[in-house]
Amino acid sequence: MNRAVISIFSVLFSFALFQPAGRAETGAEAWLRYAPLDQQAIRRYQNLPNSVFLLGDSAILVSSQRELMRGIHGLLKGDLRVASSLSGNAAIILGTFPQLQKVVPGLHPPTDLHEDGFWLTHRQIDGATHLIIAASNDGGVLYGVFAFLRKIALQQSLQDLNESQQPYAPIRWIDQWDNLDGTIERGYAGRSIFFENGTLRSDLTRVADYARTLASVGINGMAINNVNANPRLLQDDSVFQLARVAAAFRPWGVRLSIAVDLGSPKTIGGLNTFDPADPRVAEWWRKKIDQIYAAIPDFAGFVVKADSEDRLGPSTYGRTQADAANLIARPLKPHHGIIFYRAFVYNHHLDWRNSKNDRAKAAYDYFHPLDGEFEDNVIIQIKHGPIDFQAREPVSPLLGALQNTNEAVELQITQEYTGQQRHLCFLIPMWKEVLDFDLHASGASSPVMDLVAGKTFHRPTGGFVGVANVGLDENWLGHPLAMANLYGFARLAWNPQLSAVQIAEEWSALTFGDDPVVVETISSMLLSSWSTYESYTGPLGAQTLTDILGSHYGPGIESSEGNGWGQWHNADHQGVGMDRSRATGTGYAGQYSAPVAQMYESLATTPDNLLLFFHHVAYTYVLQSGKTVIQHIYDSHYDGAQRAATYVQQWQSLKNKLDEQRYSAVLVRLQYQAGHAIVWRDAICNWFLQTSGIPDTQARVGHHPNRIEAETMQLSGYSVVDVTPWENASGGKATTCNSPEPCSASLNFIGPAGEYQIDTQFFDQGNGESKFLLYVNNRLVDQWLANDHLPATKIGGDSSTRHRTLHVVLAPHDQIRIEGIPDRDEHAAIDYLEIIPAATAARN
Ligand code: GCU
Repeated sequence: MNRAVISIFSVLFSFALFQPAGRAETGAEAWLRYAPLDQQAIRRYQNLPNSVFLLGDSAILVSSQRELMRGIHGLLKGDLRVASSLSGNAAIILGTFPQLQKVVPGLHPPTDLHEDGFWLTHRQIDGATHLIIAASNDGGVLYGVFAFLRKIALQQSLQDLNESQQPYAPIRWIDQWDNLDGTIERGYAGRSIFFENGTLRSDLTRVADYARTLASVGINGMAINNVNANPRLLQDDSVFQLARVAAAFRPWGVRLSIAVDLGSPKTIGGLNTFDPADPRVAEWWRKKIDQIYAAIPDFAGFVVKADSEDRLGPSTYGRTQADAANLIARPLKPHHGIIFYRAFVYNHHLDWRNSKNDRAKAAYDYFHPLDGEFEDNVIIQIKHGPIDFQAREPVSPLLGALQNTNEAVELQITQEYTGQQRHLCFLIPMWKEVLDFDLHASGASSPVMDLVAGKTFHRPTGGFVGVANVGLDENWLGHPLAMANLYGFARLAWNPQLSAVQIAEEWSALTFGDDPVVVETISSMLLSSWSTYESYTGPLGAQTLTDILGSHYGPGIESSEGNGWGQWHNADHQGVGMDRSRATGTGYAGQYSAPVAQMYESLATTPDNLLLFFHHVAYTYVLQSGKTVIQHIYDSHYDGAQRAATYVQQWQSLKNKLDEQRYSAVLVRLQYQAGHAIVWRDAICNWFLQTSGIPDTQARVGHHPNRIEAETMQLSGYSVVDVTPWENASGGKATTCNSPEPCSASLNFIGPAGEYQIDTQFFDQGNGESKFLLYVNNRLVDQWLANDHLPATKIGGDSSTRHRTLHVVLAPHDQIRIEGIPDRDEHAAIDYLEIIPAATAARN
């Protein structure tokens, strides 16, 4: 918009006073806070038209108009008038191209815009300069409105505005893994916003809010239930309930889908089979699908998980995955419905004694031979890596192996293996690596983003699916900073060429305000956090060394081994890593196209960060970095834990720049993370020290000069127990209070007089609220409850947590006593105390 144009705009806003940072915020508004800009910034937009003119009346267009008014009201404190015609006054005009061409003859929209793309521009008509938000369909108008408001929220110039955007792919979807009973599979932020007690919630306000939040970043579809699907959702009464969800989604252009179980014709349909080749089964699906579309004409389709983790599948009848997918795809076709068929098909009863077995090979082995056999409304939904959302995996070779089949990449927003929203782990840099990775599938360059968008092999559809699992927690994902992952996923689905830096900065500014120090600090925390998390949880591509048989949260190194799940890392006293080469290993490397296969086949060219995914090496093997594998394991875990500690300090530096509510909520989680990173560090380092027998050259592992094990203290009421696995407690032991009376552990301090910090490492199991009291010479200096609701019911790596007491003045022979009061099944268990001179603590 040039100056002449601006001067024509009317100046009719009334502006409120700037509201400083510091108002209480729950996070419920996510990045759509529309917090008022300051006066100076508001002045920059004072020439915007003061009315809105809507060219249609569809539900989506009506929400576009409302959103525009809401955003302008919040950001600029101005109230847009609704115009009923294009008079001489300047207006913001919203509509589709055909609608627009009727009122603005001679308008030539960009020719490269199709579904969901939008155009922001201005036009002079009868002496007034109008701002135009237009698109080829209603959804595009809505995305245009949100993009326009984002520009204002980010204080971007609207001068010379003439911009068009086209999403990279048609599929930009969210999956929720909600169960009908209100729980969420791998959800870490409260109960389901959709279901409770086996049925749909009566109040769907959060559902509509969620759809709006997702629409604001271009999401256009959602499957709302667990991929381990409950067939009951297909019963007649459920179909009517689903219609209510579709109605809540519709104004935001989000199409509804559900996950279905292939066994449904038998389990709820009254047939004695679910064989994809049986005509009765096909007829059952046809009728069910017709019934759904009668209730929900814009229903999007289904997600299917079959033959995986005990789900029923076509293998029961000797049929292929294509037989099963097409069975459901065909009756969906007349309704323009699609089916996402998940490639997460594998046998979790693999024989680990056979060194040729490899779960990583499964998706390619099942689906590559079927390429071209799927109906064109089938999309194969492929997890980004060949295992299961680990902290580091190579890109799934299947993504490059389907030339005649639609595909979508599945990314996991909910942090199942990456800290469950208790640890900060911004996943955009990981996803960028995935989407940018060149699989050389077509002989030429073929990055994953092009493959899934259908660009490489000219497929009609495809794109991006993110597993989000938001819950009823007011801030949606539990950790306020975790919302950066939901935002970033959607932004990448819209435009995978955005950089991680740009996304981090955008999100920080929209969520916490545009103070450059705030944006810079939060962005830099976000951008380093995946690498930090990886450093203390899983080395060199050996995957997240977590408890894969239980929570997928704390350390559980041996849980991956000696069972059929196939998340093996093959660590023994000589070496570690899976040999997946063609020459001597499982042959997995050979599933890639030649240039990629070659890179991974050879030790010399496999990048360090995936070395142990592809090769088994001795602990003394020297990495490209020049370090031995074992020293790298020690160093990276110390480095990662140290970096986690710095997030607390970085966050504290923002104290006066943020609202108290979100500041405190984040601080508590970062402090917890810093403590839990040490649990991880110690578990992994100690385990590898004992297994390899090779000491840390820096003599840190196994040496904790300030640490006093609870089991070595003077105990009254407390008993000493062995912790399993041993590496998840310092010294392999803890003390537990098994009496109804308080227990205590005490010691006589022997260090020099001075000020100290006392860290108490204890176990917060979530099945009780034990109380702890810390005394110095019978004087109470601190007390706290074990009430953090960690994903744990027993003493171990999931429950181990830290309480820090600052400014404790101690003199030689002072008695330090910690008293534990158990509650229900939680026995006020203690691991150790660490008594650190205040001066040293401040330095670290
Ligand atoms: C992981 C996850 C399961 C989930 C599965 C899937 O294995 O732990 O809870 O059902 O992935 O994606 O199907």
